[in-house]
Formats: sequence, C-alpha cells, structure tokens
Amino acid sequence: MYTIGILGVGDLTEKTVIGLRKGGYEGEILVSPRNAERAERLAQEFRCKVMDCNQSVVDHSEILLLGVRPTSAAELATQVRLKPGQRLLSLVAGFGSDKLAALFPEAQCVRVMLSGAAQYNATTVVIYPSDTLAQQCLGVLGNLVVLDDEPSFELATVAACMNGWFYFLLHDLQQWLSDKGLPEAQARALVLGNVQDCVASAKQQNEQSLSTLGQTIATPGTFTADGLAVLRHQPLAANWGAACEVVLDALLTRASISK
Ligand SMILES: NC(=O)c1ccc[n+]([C@@H]2O[C@H](COP(=O)([O-])OP(=O)(O)OC[C@H]3O[C@@H](n4cnc5c(N)ncnc54)[C@H](OP(=O)(O)O)[C@@H]3O)[C@@H](O)[C@H]2O)c1
Repeated sequence: MYTIGILGVGDLTEKTVIGLRKGGYEGEILVSPRNAERAERLAQEFRCKVMDCNQSVVDHSEILLLGVRPTSAAELATQVRLKPGQRLLSLVAGFGSDKLAALFPEAQCVRVMLSGAAQYNATTVVIYPSDTLAQQCLGVLGNLVVLDDEPSFELATVAACMNGWFYFLLHDLQQWLSDKGLPEAQARALVLGNVQDCVASAKQQNEQSLSTLGQTIATPGTFTADGLAVLRHQPLAANWGAACEVVLDALLTRASISK
C-alpha cells in the first residue's frame, strides 16, 4: 500500500483525509506540521502522522497531495525537493501544469479538483491528465471525471465554483418558502429533496438532454410551465453565464501571466 503525504493541512485537505479514511484507505497518511492544531486533530481522529517538516513528508510518501493556496505554492516549492517521478496531485485552483512543472520539475504532476463533499465520499473528482495511481487513490472520494486537456480542466474549475453558488440559489428558494410561512426545516427539506429528485432522474436518463427532461415536466397547461414562462423572461440565466465568464477569464488570465 502506498503512503500519502499532505502538503498544506487546510480546509480541503482535511475533508479529503476524512473521505479517504471513510472510503477505506488504510495506508499511512503523513501531514505537514503547519496549522498544528488541525494536523494534530487529523492525527488523533484519522490516524495521520504529523511530520516535522515538509521535506520529511515528501521523503516518506509515494503520493503527495498539494493543498496550499495559489499564493503559497511558490514558497512551499522552495522548501521541498521531490523524488524523480513522484506523484504530486495538486488541488491548487487556477495553477496550470506549466507552473507546477516549473516549481516541481522532478514530479509527475496531476491536477485535481474536488469539493468539500469529499468528506462524505460524494464529491466530483476531476483529474487531468489521466493517471491510474491518482484515480485509484482519489476514486473513493466520489465520482471520477478524467479530462483530456487543460482548457477542459479550467472549465471544470468554473463548474466547481457553481457548486458554491448553488448554495445561494437554494438558500433563496428556501427563504421564499419560509417567508410564505413554512418552517425553515421543512422549507430546507423540500428544496433539497426536489433538487435531489431532479439529479436522481437526470442521472438515470443520461441519453436525454437536461432541457428535454425539463420539457417533459413543463408541458403546456401545467403549473411548472406557468412558472417557467416567468423564469425565461428573468435575467437569472444571464447572471449565471456572466459569473462563469468572470471566473473563466480570471483562470485564463492567470494561466497566461505565468507563461
Ligand atoms: N476549499 C475548497 O472548497 C476548495 C475547492 C477547490 C479547490 N480548492 C483549492 O485547494 C487549496 C486549499 O484551499 P483551502 O480552502 O483548503 O485553503 P486553506 O484552508 O487556507 O489551507 C491551506 C493550508 O496550507 C497551509 N500552508 C501554506 N503554506 C504552507 C507551506 N509552505 N507548508 C505547509 N503548509 C502551508 C496553510 O497554513 P497557513 O494558514 O498558516 O498559511 C493552510 O493551513 C487552494 O489552492 C484552493 O484553490 C479549495
């Protein structure tokens, strides 16, 4: 069994470690010492070992998970020397393969995008490029999506931001129900339940487009169709598109600055 090393013990890597353990990963997990309280918690509750420095994490691991913020990656790179061909699975958003290769020339770098649902083994795990070991290691965290090129990975990063935005959309819908008198817990259960119904049905009917599936519900004369007619005249879809463009622009601009 391979040993996994965590460089940067933060919010996302903590959830990743929890998901790995819940998913049945029994091998060693070594964590970097910075953010000592969190590292110690992972040691106590999820059988991790806190190492005395980043280099010692590198020296004793086969697979490394890079979980620092983009602004900290260069500093971290000065503190370590990886083994030739060592896997470096980078969670750092907007940090392209060219930048990773420049900072960690010895490593075999793989970009990864996932969400906090990793701790429930229910995240989308996006991987670029395809890598058997990375897929084997992170597959327990949820559903794997392996991409063929880097522009697709940047689009997947925009999709990962959608995950964050959905909370606000769902909040607004819950709030509307609550304002009309429904207890908050019931409003929440109804909104989440209906999203879940939609996702479950769509996943079972992959051959149908999402708009076709919607049309089969919003048939003429239905309440759903009445509401849809209003939605189609509101700028909501335009706002979502604009938000996606802003994020994609930022990702591509940062990528081109690095060249
Ligand atoms: N959070 C998410 O939902 C999410 C989703 C997708 C992608 N990501 C990506 O995941 C990465 C981590 O995000 P996060 O939200 O988990 O950030 P975070 O909570 O700030 O975690 C980063 C951790 O790295 C530590 N660190 C910084 N420099 C270090 C160094 N040289 N050596 C060892 N540790 C170091 C930080 O310590 P200090 O606090 O002391 O600096 C902090 O504990 C980011 O690059 C982000 O783009 C996050």
